[in-house]
Amino acid sequence: MTIHSIVTLPDRRLRVNTKKITTFDEPLQVLIADMFDSMYAAHGVGLAATQIGLDLRIAVIDVEGDKKNQYVLINPEVTMIGEVVNMHEGCLSVPHVSAEVKRATRVKLKALDRHGKPYELEASDLLAECIQHEVDHLNGKLYIDLLSPLKRDRLLKKMDKVQRSENM
Ligand code: NI
Repeated sequence: MTIHSIVTLPDRRLRVNTKKITTFDEPLQVLIADMFDSMYAAHGVGLAATQIGLDLRIAVIDVEGDKKNQYVLINPEVTMIGEVVNMHEGCLSVPHVSAEVKRATRVKLKALDRHGKPYELEASDLLAECIQHEVDHLNGKLYIDLLSPLKRDRLLKKMDKVQRSENM
């Protein structure tokens, strides 16, 4: 088991566009297990490969955190089908802060599972929010990109301030 450290802003590896996964071998299964372990260790509900410095199109999700409903999203495509509302969001790669962003309340997800088998799923509320957040990561996007420049600036300054005070 490997717990990966989480890449945080301003690391450019969070901004890459990821490559599709085409091989569903043993190293991929190890990576998936390590991604879940890294996510639980960091107390997150989702983790994308870019957050451990990999440019691969894979993310893991467990919104309850009890390991009963673990989702593996490989080469995912998401369609927003619900109404767009304000949702509260944070990210392990943008530590210490959170903000309200606009997200669809329902989504349709098409992805491959850990063995390369296609699946589809409709999700709502927190799971829908998390799916949108993680798929954004795989496109090099962060939730702070959805904020106005003024709000984003304020949030990043706050993040810097807390990080500096922690390092003292
Ligand atoms: Ni995130």
